[in-house]
Amino acid sequence: MTRWPEYSSESHQAASKPPDGTQTVTRREVPYEVTDELISVEEVSVVFGAKDKAFGAVKNVNLAIFAGEFVCLMGPSGCGKSTVLNVLAGFNHPSSGRVTLRGQPISGIDRHRGVVFQKPALFEWFSVAKNIAFGLKVMKRPKAEIKDKVAQYLQSVGLTGFADHKVYELSGGMRQRVAIARSLITEPEILLMDEPFGALDALTREQMQNLVRDIWWRTGKTIFFITHDVDEALKLGTRILVMSPRPGTIIDNIESGFSRSLLERADDRVWFSEDFYRARRHLLSMVTGKPAPQCGPEDEGPTF
Ligand SMILES: Nc1ncnc2c1ncn2[C@@H]1O[C@H](COP(=O)(O)OP(=O)(O)OP(=O)(O)O)[C@@H](O)[C@H]1O
Ligand SMILES: [Mg+2]
Repeated sequence: MTRWPEYSSESHQAASKPPDGTQTVTRREVPYEVTDELISVEEVSVVFGAKDKAFGAVKNVNLAIFAGEFVCLMGPSGCGKSTVLNVLAGFNHPSSGRVTLRGQPISGIDRHRGVVFQKPALFEWFSVAKNIAFGLKVMKRPKAEIKDKVAQYLQSVGLTGFADHKVYELSGGMRQRVAIARSLITEPEILLMDEPFGALDALTREQMQNLVRDIWWRTGKTIFFITHDVDEALKLGTRILVMSPRPGTIIDNIESGFSRSLLERADDRVWFSEDFYRARRHLLSMVTGKPAPQCGPEDEGPTF
């Protein structure tokens, strides 16, 4: 496995607050050095269609997700990223291979996995609070508990004061905040996110990235996150997986310390470091299948 060194420039460590307003947050006391395997995917293939119309979407996918990790999945369009996520969610069943959560086969949808899609699946005419409360109502939790938890999760996604707003009144970023709160409130073991910020403008996207990074850090939640965006993967993931073109299989597995560096040091100059630049070039080349351009005599960065 490739391991990108953590950002370690001494001169940058003294900076207090990054220009985008990102705050340092305290990580819940869970071991970050992950050893506790949560999800195991072994030799999973998914074939859609039958007989002469059958085609493989993913082939012999092997991966493990450990409790507390933030795993990003990248790959060219149509390579089978969503198919993998749908298998983890229990929406799709593998044609062959095995998928387990804490050793138990994943055979359908259950509350252990929360899912957030690019287009938030919300009840448009319900209030924000009612949308967030939905899972707990289905679980028939007591009213007082639902009220408390809705307030807590509204706060955690920055929507305090919007409880009574209808979903159709909200912006795209606010809708995604509701979708995240709704997924988290039932306390799933893992949050599965399929290009959740793909439809947002650049500024909102960055705010949402900061929000999800902070939630991950504060709660110790395990996150599996699909993105097309190399920068997004590096800014969020503790590990980045890359898939080949369809039928997709995992072709790269990179540990990344950039998001952690940002959280621990509250300094976003990590994004402009040489290490970040190198990791970015490597990932781009893996995703596009094109060799990384050589930019300097020792390949240490751009010469412009
Ligand atoms: N339910 C389905 N029935 C038939 N074919 C499907 C189904 N779901 C996905 N596919 C096909 O499987 C392949 C992989 O699709 P998938 O959506 O997993 O790709 P992806 O990597 O998520 O793509 P994108 O980056 O565009 O979202 C595609 O050719 C797609 O058309
Ligand atoms: Mg997809």
